[in-house]
Amino acid sequence: MYILGIETSCDESATAIYDSVSGCVLGEKIYSQIETHNRFGGIVPEVASREHLKFLPALVDQTLKEAGLSSFPDAIAVTHGPGLMGALLVGVSYAKAMGVVYGCPVIPINHLEGHLLSPGIMQPLQLPCVTLLVSGGHTLLVAVDAVGQYRLLGQSLDDAAGECFDKCARLLGLPYPGGPVIAKMAEQGDPKRFDLPRPMLHKKNLHFSFSGLKTALMYKVRGTDIQQQDQQWKNDLAASLQAAIVDVLVKKSLRACVEEQVSHLWVAGGVAANLYLRERMIAQASEHDVSVCFAAGQHCTDNAAMIAYAAWQHIEHGLVKKDRLWDAQSRCPLV
Ligand code: KG4
Ligand code: ZN
Repeated sequence: MYILGIETSCDESATAIYDSVSGCVLGEKIYSQIETHNRFGGIVPEVASREHLKFLPALVDQTLKEAGLSSFPDAIAVTHGPGLMGALLVGVSYAKAMGVVYGCPVIPINHLEGHLLSPGIMQPLQLPCVTLLVSGGHTLLVAVDAVGQYRLLGQSLDDAAGECFDKCARLLGLPYPGGPVIAKMAEQGDPKRFDLPRPMLHKKNLHFSFSGLKTALMYKVRGTDIQQQDQQWKNDLAASLQAAIVDVLVKKSLRACVEEQVSHLWVAGGVAANLYLRERMIAQASEHDVSVCFAAGQHCTDNAAMIAYAAWQHIEHGLVKKDRLWDAQSRCPLV
């Protein structure tokens, strides 16, 4: 089967075609709206919807061309939530319209499940496992017993890890998204220079909390003219912040694997692109005999390959029910 994936839940318009026979992504396009929103100092939902509407048709055309298929794909997979309501509606409406025109089924996919399964796009997945889903909107530890069978083990009680990177970057006068900028600066920094807390690390549960870390950083820089500090000071602060976040993510993920008695850990979501997290996770997991599988770099942040792939997983595991398919007449569950 060829599956066209569409993702418009936030500020990225993305399309991809997944081929279930070869297990490959045949074409993939992402248009990021970051620069448009940066002018407003944050994501403006109405602007996001309009941008999706403007760019989605061209992205679909380009992806179909790149994939070189002789006919339209067999199914369309589209993100139906969670996300910005208007932005989701653009993707869902477009998918449903194409479903009518080309007479193919439209499969609604949860954005978080897309992230959750994304390590499987590039490599065979071994189950059961624990997944750390660590993005701008979520920090979750999930036990994956089988495709479609998920148990929430822990989550952030306030800010997500990516949100913490983004808010701290803002505090330091750095652009959005903060994660990649802080990671780059941290490469040249000393993670031990600033003593920052590791929130919830010693609590017996598998929950997280990152808003206190942001506050601790705020107190560290209070009364300091950040712009007047030299680059080494900034790099050291970035490295100390990154180390605090990564420490908690690594320790809690491995504790989850031990508690669940599983030997496979998947890591997905935007923050999974962080190279320091990858290094530390792999090193510490080997001490626990746990194998770690990360989503590929281009599939960590929002993308449509993960949506198409999740739809294929639903089909392969018999989870696509007729009443979960949309046709032109059925109301979008969002409205
Ligand atoms: O998965 P994603 O694209 O969007 C959500 O579904 O939330 O994740 C975006 C988040 C942002 O908070 C961004 O700062 C973070 O992922 N991020 C990173 C890195 N690349 C993206 N955080 C740390 N290090 C990175 N290299
Ligand atoms: Zn996402």
